[in-house]
Amino acid sequence: MRIAIAGATGTIGRHVHAVAAARGHDVVSISRAAGHDLTRDDLVEALTGVDGVIDVVSISTLSRGRATSFFETTSRRIQRDGTAAGVRHLVALSIVGIDGVDSGYYGAKLAHERQVTSGDLPFTLLRASQFHEFAEQTVSQGRLGPLAIVPRALLRPVAAREVAEHLVDLAEGAPRGRVDDLVGPRDERLIDMVRALLAHDGRSLPTWEVRLPGAMGAAMASGRLRGNTDARRGTLSYADWLRQRDSRA
Ligand SMILES: NC(=O)c1ccc[n+]([C@@H]2O[C@H](COP(=O)([O-])OP(=O)(O)OC[C@H]3O[C@@H](n4cnc5c(N)ncnc54)[C@H](OP(=O)(O)O)[C@@H]3O)[C@@H](O)[C@H]2O)c1
Repeated sequence: MRIAIAGATGTIGRHVHAVAAARGHDVVSISRAAGHDLTRDDLVEALTGVDGVIDVVSISTLSRGRATSFFETTSRRIQRDGTAAGVRHLVALSIVGIDGVDSGYYGAKLAHERQVTSGDLPFTLLRASQFHEFAEQTVSQGRLGPLAIVPRALLRPVAAREVAEHLVDLAEGAPRGRVDDLVGPRDERLIDMVRALLAHDGRSLPTWEVRLPGAMGAAMASGRLRGNTDARRGTLSYADWLRQRDSRA
């Protein structure tokens, strides 16, 4: 198959690209680094001959307004240019447990989901929990001087690689609408994940756990982002993922 990956250079996009290529698919990379800006470029030519698009783009912001504008614009672009190019299937990734959390980045993901489910392209929508890699994203994005600011969060994290494998499985099949959520094997506190990561890497960075304000902060702290018991379960625990990390780099 010819599969386009929107966000192919990102945290999960890199894994999606590697999995799809390893399975022998013809992969088209969509990202600014690959020469395609989804907020403004015409993608019809890039998507011509593509069977399915896997949408894993993202923007790094907690602003609901900025993130909503980004996801609506990029998703509309994929829908419009994908339809014009003859794409038959859109596979999009969202986040477990965000129903009713209409604030911050999660509010924007709800807008993203609405865009996907109301668009012209037949779709499959997967919600996954936070990736194991979310700990590193938190450290790199949440710095206050010499401190790492860590949102209070009870999660059920999953390896991005396992999510990527599932996304490619879904892209290989027919559009299925919303499918079962995918979460990790164990509950983890984000602060513990961050501290374990820093210790594993030998980095001495002080951490400060804070409860983020608003509905988004409440959702993170309450544990609702862990999803329901009927979700699919990934198998690789955070501790095992961390141990394997050096050989994967
Ligand atoms: N991180 C998590 O724990 C997690 C958990 C569950 C679901 N998700 C969802 O998974 C998706 C991907 O998240 P991620 O953490 O992998 O994101 P990420 O690491 O920030 O990667 C974002 C990707 O989007 C691309 N991108 C950004 N702006 C673009 C633009 N204007 N045009 C084209 N490409 C653009 C980036 O490439 P360039 O910079 O080269 O453009 C990059 O490849 C998001 O929908 C997120 O909500 C994430």
